[in-house]
Amino acid sequence: MPAETFVITLDGPAGAGKSTVAKSLAKRLGVTYLDTGAMYRALTLKALRLKMDMSDEEALTTLTRNTKIVFKEMPDGSLNVTLDGEDVSVAIRAPEVTNNTFYVARVAGVRSLMVAWQRQIGQGRSIVTDGRDQGTVVFKDARYKFYVDADVEERAGRRYRELIAAGKTVTLDQVRTDMLERDQKDFNRVVSPLKKAPDAITVDSTGLTVEGTVDKIMKLIQL
Ligand code: DC
Repeated sequence: MPAETFVITLDGPAGAGKSTVAKSLAKRLGVTYLDTGAMYRALTLKALRLKMDMSDEEALTTLTRNTKIVFKEMPDGSLNVTLDGEDVSVAIRAPEVTNNTFYVARVAGVRSLMVAWQRQIGQGRSIVTDGRDQGTVVFKDARYKFYVDADVEERAGRRYRELIAAGKTVTLDQVRTDMLERDQKDFNRVVSPLKKAPDAITVDSTGLTVEGTVDKIMKLIQL
């Protein structure tokens, strides 16, 4: 009989450390890491390249239906995102993409296709998945649900250092303002807004390293 599979969800606002924590947690557990934000980013990249009208929800849904987003496992264990066969792992982190994901993430038709793909990826294998709606919508029956948060200054500082390290010219004030704006969009959108699932455990990563946060989660789970 195949071993029983499990899903662990990590939701939370930008900059809380979700994706690095989720990636490291998956590695420690020897399971697949699913970066659902990368899927919305890849679709946004495609829409921007096609110069689409970002307010045309029907066109964005049709675009999703005609797009193939696949995760490819690399020799170092990381997952590279491919968009219609092209590796877009770096391109999807561009600020222009970050600032436009909101348009695709708010469309119900887009989200329902994304949700179906995400459930398909979780089919028959154990995963650690991160996003905004993983515990509330996509994997309601997940074995463990976490809501990862950190205080605003720390989240803005992390994002700022990431951007500086990537050679971008930004100020901490600008990064904080953009981040708070994105948070508001995630919290307030009509379809699948970011919220803590009633049965999720809050993990505050303020003052903790990635590995410190993973240690904290590891102490809370029994698989
Ligand atoms: O986690 P991230 O910054 O890579 O997410 C990119 C965008 O996608 C962000 O605007 C929120 C959105 N998103 C979402 O709506 N649902 C998810 N499950 C994951 C991300």
